[in-house]
Amino acid sequence: MIEKSTTLADSMEDIHLAEREQLYQFIKELLEKHGPDPGEYDTILKMVDLIQPEDVEIFRVIMKPILHPGTIIGFSFTKPFGYNGDFFIIEKIYQHYVNPDEKCCKWDQFFHYLPAAIAVVNRKKLAIEQFKRINENGDKGLQKNVLILGSGPANEVNEYLQSTPHNQLVFDMIDLDQRAIDYAKSKNREYLSLLNFMNQNVIRFTPNKSYNMIWSAGLFDYFKDKHFVFLLKKFYQYLAPGGEMIIGNFNTNNPSRKIMEIMGDWFLYHRSEEELMQFAHQAGISLDKTEVLAEPLGINLFLRVRK
Ligand SMILES: C[S@@+](CC[C@H](N)C(=O)[O-])C[C@H]1O[C@@H](n2cnc3c(N)ncnc32)[C@H](O)[C@@H]1O
Repeated sequence: MIEKSTTLADSMEDIHLAEREQLYQFIKELLEKHGPDPGEYDTILKMVDLIQPEDVEIFRVIMKPILHPGTIIGFSFTKPFGYNGDFFIIEKIYQHYVNPDEKCCKWDQFFHYLPAAIAVVNRKKLAIEQFKRINENGDKGLQKNVLILGSGPANEVNEYLQSTPHNQLVFDMIDLDQRAIDYAKSKNREYLSLLNFMNQNVIRFTPNKSYNMIWSAGLFDYFKDKHFVFLLKKFYQYLAPGGEMIIGNFNTNNPSRKIMEIMGDWFLYHRSEEELMQFAHQAGISLDKTEVLAEPLGINLFLRVRK
């Protein structure tokens, strides 16, 4: 019996070693030709999915030539701003930025192929649709207040304002990182009369008015459950009657999770639709005021609660 299980363990180990060898050989070839071509994208993803926890460090050592801020994935890995998900990397995703350096460009193209990156671009489109819907709701000519938590590059605001001639929204924008605010102000310089930036932590920020909409994407997935519920409960109080709060969060089905974690050292709290609904319940919001939206890939979910 003991002999049999040892044999099984040995052969499992052999398979693992063979896969590992194959992966390292493949990665070395990719590095020599400065990155993958589109036909190799799915092979990389399948191989990364096979990486075991004990192989992560050696894999990162092999990948070291590209894990620097010049590639998007390396920017995530090295965190030049000190944390994951800063405004600059998000802006690179929105802009479909590809470093022209031949050592980086194929890796950046590969990054934009990742479903998680596509979902981030989709969430910007979803934000713009939601702003337009709020803008068109109710009384014409009446100003509507929007609060954005973790506003980052404020790209969605920029595209919304550019594409909405009869805008009635004014925005309060909260971000912890002054660099994000400086960037967003510069990007939106023609709309500054509609935008009020506040360099604050959303955990400590207390509004002094009520809002028709509170929007947040790319922020709550960095918070533990208890902070998620705390913030939901707190900001729900600042919704005007009929107002709504929409909070984005990566879904548990994110197919890019492993590559983000292993190559990008980018960890998020992934949450299912049921978990998001449960958070609303825990925040004391009734079920009939709660629903979950999704962008077309279903990778970014959005908890929507109404007052
Ligand atoms: C991933 S970006 C998302 C930006 C934007 N919401 C979007 O979807 O494009 C997250 C932003 O939240 C900001 N942030 C992170 N923690 C924060 C906190 N506790 N309070 C306020 N802002 C925060 C970061 O500085 C960053 O600009």
